[in-house]
Amino acid sequence: MTVHFIGAGPGAADLITLRGRDLIAACPVCLYAGSLVPEALLAHCPPGARIVNTAPLSLDEIISEIKTAHAAGQDVARLHSGDLSVWSAMGEQLRRLRAEGIPYDITPGVPAFAAAAAALGNELTLPGVAQSLVLTRTSGRASAMPEGETLENFAATGATLAIHLSVHVLDEVVARLSPAYGADCPVAVVWRATWPDQHIIRATLGSVIDATDGERGRTALILVGPALAAEGFDESCLYAGDYDRRFRPVGTQPRFPEGVE
Ligand SMILES: C[S@@+](CC[C@H](N)C(=O)[O-])C[C@H]1O[C@@H](n2cnc3c(N)ncnc32)[C@H](O)[C@@H]1O
Repeated sequence: MTVHFIGAGPGAADLITLRGRDLIAACPVCLYAGSLVPEALLAHCPPGARIVNTAPLSLDEIISEIKTAHAAGQDVARLHSGDLSVWSAMGEQLRRLRAEGIPYDITPGVPAFAAAAAALGNELTLPGVAQSLVLTRTSGRASAMPEGETLENFAATGATLAIHLSVHVLDEVVARLSPAYGADCPVAVVWRATWPDQHIIRATLGSVIDATDGERGRTALILVGPALAAEGFDESCLYAGDYDRRFRPVGTQPRFPEGVE
């Protein structure tokens, strides 16, 4: 018996990996975080599967479901939105499973930041503009931010920021980032990327508050940084015609002669 943690993707039901889909289809028990996991994915469950929305359950109740399946020798598909490596609450479940001696594995999913970037049609790391992406959030009722992980500190790097769980405090985000990035810095807010009601607003730090006037819910990402609107960036060396590299040796004395690893 194994608990299969599966990244369910950002919303669109076809943005799950083939492995994730096949595991759902093979498991007689499916536990899904119903607040953001698309219900359409549950259509992959086998007939008669026990399907439980864990949104209203406590951690103890979730582990109790898993222990019951374990005792019955039934595999469990455990679905969380996006990818499991960020803000999935997987870590605390894995710790309990290790303590109980219950086996598990993990299948990654498409994270919200990647879905938002795709919806925007943007690369978030452009040569000479931004080569780092910070996935972060502001502190919430349930999770304080560790000291040092402040928006101001991240802003000082000039990197592209993907700010989660924070659209309800957009004013605060703007106030804290503006001193470092400036009022002209591009911003995009993407609500419910890949869902049928996806909504995008592009603005600047100076204009985004007015531009996003109105309530569209909390499932949104705030992307900030010069890469979001840059056009005058360098082309990467990788595809330059005269750039000698392992997969495309150039010149009479290439660094990596063909056939040499
Ligand atoms: C609990 S976190 C889950 C993150 C998820 N594990 C991931 O890989 O992206 C939920 C937050 O992620 C962001 N988010 C999740 N799905 C989104 C989507 N489809 N569009 C925009 N933002 C999304 C929002 O900031 C939301 O408040």
